[in-house]
Amino acid sequence: MDINKLLLLLSDGKYHSGSELGELLGVSRTSIWKCLPQLHSMNVPIESLKGKGYRVPGGLDLLNKKIILESLPESLSSGIDLEILLSCSSTNDYLSQRIVVSNAKEFQVCLAELQTSGRGRRGRAWVSPFGKNIALSLGFVIEGGVDSLSGLSIVVGLAIAKALEALGVKNVGLKWPNDIYVNNKKIAGILVELSGEATTRWNVICGIGLNVLMSEEEGRGIDQAWTSLSQYVEVDRNEVVVQILRQLILLVDKFKMESFEAFISEWSNWDILLDKDVKVEPGGLVGRAKGINAQGALVLDVSGQKQLINAGEVSVRVK
Ligand code: BTN
Repeated sequence: MDINKLLLLLSDGKYHSGSELGELLGVSRTSIWKCLPQLHSMNVPIESLKGKGYRVPGGLDLLNKKIILESLPESLSSGIDLEILLSCSSTNDYLSQRIVVSNAKEFQVCLAELQTSGRGRRGRAWVSPFGKNIALSLGFVIEGGVDSLSGLSIVVGLAIAKALEALGVKNVGLKWPNDIYVNNKKIAGILVELSGEATTRWNVICGIGLNVLMSEEEGRGIDQAWTSLSQYVEVDRNEVVVQILRQLILLVDKFKMESFEAFISEWSNWDILLDKDVKVEPGGLVGRAKGINAQGALVLDVSGQKQLINAGEVSVRVK
């Protein structure tokens, strides 16, 4: 049975009897009942009530491939291979196994309603409960030496900031290298990974995690101040994906064609660390943040001396 179709029927939040669902899906009501463990294992908050049937309280805002592709300009949608998964360990991992096999289109996109082992930067876990946030990976190929990649993660951050602004969110900021903040709380993070063995042809995967509808309870285990898009604007997850893809593809294409320098001054408009005293870990280096250089490194003024901090496994906090 197609579990996607069952979820779609339940997405209105109303009660549906087992026999009604079975009839609509061309299966027995026992088959519907047998799907419950799978839905529970994905943490879909499904309820069943004797005499009334099944419902998902509050309904579901499910991702929809047709809506997303049709909402994008044809010039963009024609270059995208889009896959929406109900559940996977991590969309970055999923795409890394696909991108080498199939890159018929310029961009491979994978979205998942649930990630069971979502990964963040610096080996941290990333929380994405079923149907609540956006877990999106964009895969593409970049030709050129390793220099051709510097600044890419900054560009991806800019794209997400612009997408949030286009959705009407105020007070969006970027924290080097690529965390997205709203009102000083983290709303999205980016994990750029390279795969393939070539040194002049890189398989790039940009993973984006954006909190959209996550409740306090669902985000309880997160050990830093965080926020969700629904706190600021009325949201439809498909529209959020459309805005992200629009900005992302536009900027990644620009990045592939022009040099990173084209983005440096734009970064300063969003830079929440600019002119702040910060501490870099590991190491504990303290200095005043002075923006980024032509490679996307963070520039620090340390007692009058310029020091460069490269992204990778470091974290920067305002002192
Ligand atoms: C961070 O700020 O630590 C980066 C978070 C990146 C999370 C996204 S969600 C989609 C993609 N799949 C993953 O496993 N991680 C990234």
